[in-house]
Amino acid sequence: MLITFEGIDGAGKSTQIRKLRKWLAEQEVEVLVLREPGGTATAEKIRDILLESRDNISPIGELLLFSASRAELVQKVILPALETGKTVILDRFFDSTTAYQGYGRGIDRRMLQTVIDLSVFSLRPDLTFYLDISPENAMLRKFSEKSLPIAFDDTELDRIERSGLDFFRRVRQGYLDIIKEEAERFVVLDALDKPQTLHKRIIESVSPHVPGKRNPSESSTGDGR
Ligand SMILES: Nc1ncnc2c1ncn2[C@@H]1O[C@H](COP(=O)(O)OP(=O)(O)O)[C@@H](O)[C@H]1O
Ligand SMILES: [Mg+2]
Repeated sequence: MLITFEGIDGAGKSTQIRKLRKWLAEQEVEVLVLREPGGTATAEKIRDILLESRDNISPIGELLLFSASRAELVQKVILPALETGKTVILDRFFDSTTAYQGYGRGIDRRMLQTVIDLSVFSLRPDLTFYLDISPENAMLRKFSEKSLPIAFDDTELDRIERSGLDFFRRVRQGYLDIIKEEAERFVVLDALDKPQTLHKRIIESVSPHVPGKRNPSESSTGDGR
């Protein structure tokens, strides 16, 4: 089973992945958690290029580097793990490419899809959790994480933050469009819910896929969030 987590930075993906990994391990499910880019020797080198010279890479160059890293990871790590029956959790997958490089950077979606198809070898997530949050709230979390003062409408920093906000607004819209196209694969969650509430909803969606765990071990569906 392949489970992916999507959402803009600060949405709470890493937090929920940690909880889900722990829960799955408790159910004696073999789990592999991976994060792009990276995961193989070659993919790690590509990660270095992407992180070190990010500012000098064109959008298309960046798309192809991410995709090269992904192709390595899918072929050498993810597909073999799935074949041995492991559950793989991915912190971002190709939906991020559509949202960030497509909607965020403005690369043509059909062209983008060709590159995605080439790099994932027909692999699709069984389940994708999308943690929805406004860029403003995501940024507030980032500010508080780094103990920075909150200032959306100030001088220099603000201009940067504003362009950041516009970018993330497009990315969020991208996610919402993708979800409309492939509703059956997605579980949309309100990222402002409490971590434990989100975790419960995630378990409810994952449980039916876990052998011998047709129902969540904890209470029943409850009253939503
Ligand atoms: N449901 C939540 N409610 C409030 N704060 C959260 C929640 N989930 C995560 N956080 C906090 O928000 C920040 C970003 O979370 P993180 O899991 O790192 O997000 P991501 O991996 O999507 O960037 C962290 O400081 C985390 O503790
Ligand atoms: Mg994270």
